[in-house]
Amino acid sequence: MSGDAVRVGVLRRGTASPSEELRAGLVAKDFSPWPKYFYDERGSALFEEITRQPEYYQTRTELSILRERAGDILRRTGSRELVELGSGSASKTRVLIEAMLSHDGGPVRYVPLDVSESALRASGTRLSKEYPGLEVRGYVGDFHASLGDLLARPASGERLILFLGGTVGNFTPERRRVFLSKLRAGMEAGDHLLLGVDLVKDLDVIEAAYDDAAGVTARFNRNLLHVVNRHLGTDLDPHRFEHRAFYDAEESRVEMWLDARMEQGVWVGEEELVHFEAGEGMRTEISAKFSPHSVEEVLREAGLSLVELYTDGRGYFALALAGVG
Ligand code: AVJ
Repeated sequence: MSGDAVRVGVLRRGTASPSEELRAGLVAKDFSPWPKYFYDERGSALFEEITRQPEYYQTRTELSILRERAGDILRRTGSRELVELGSGSASKTRVLIEAMLSHDGGPVRYVPLDVSESALRASGTRLSKEYPGLEVRGYVGDFHASLGDLLARPASGERLILFLGGTVGNFTPERRRVFLSKLRAGMEAGDHLLLGVDLVKDLDVIEAAYDDAAGVTARFNRNLLHVVNRHLGTDLDPHRFEHRAFYDAEESRVEMWLDARMEQGVWVGEEELVHFEAGEGMRTEISAKFSPHSVEEVLREAGLSLVELYTDGRGYFALALAGVG
């Protein structure tokens, strides 16, 4: 698409193909290492719908913290470039862009990274129309494989890297360490990270957020089976699986599962890939919850230092501002 106000580049992607990863997930009955597969077009729309459910406090809480603290964050960081990993909801990004534009001094650049080129172009075009002083340079890639290249490009000034929504909670501890260390390695003196994390709280509040009354999260979870079918040619029937989510206090994380309602095999043509007993499940996602102390630990492990932990009145969610010093 030429004539677009948005420049979009493509970065190096991971080497494993979706079908290899999904096949490995299916055979192991554990898809949690690859949370990105939830977000096909339908899954992304369902996630947007989740964020509007009364039980899902995360998105609106994070937005309210941002609204209240954006000015403070920009004053402390002096950033002129906003790098967003997995472009989030436009409303969150807008709050920070507006805070940046209202601080004087030079141009402001927005650099979103997303797996979806169409999503990048749509949101980038909208934002650059809305904010004439904003330069948008989007990159297509995923945040494991593309991170190094993304951070190696020349920046327009000190950067504020956004990783919002609590998405870091979807990583296994091992992947989280690798990811944050890589991020740290790509940061320069003066750059900052703003990391959204969901906090440990009352079990009922957490579990309700992953099992809303309207059943949207259940649909989001089952949608993964459509994604698997599309990539592998399997015959998984989402109606034969039940959504289950629970909070594991020991591990400080939510786990989402899909449990087989009846005994069944999963076939590709003549080959049975896996077999489920009635009641047997597969894990589809983990979502870690943090304490103020554990956030600081996780950052420190990666060589990042906590500058400020912004939270809401109930202590439900936090934005950790971290620097490289
Ligand atoms: C987008 C990863 C933050 O873990 O809370 C929402 C995804 N899964 N409901 C989360 C999700 C089920 C969400 N993140």
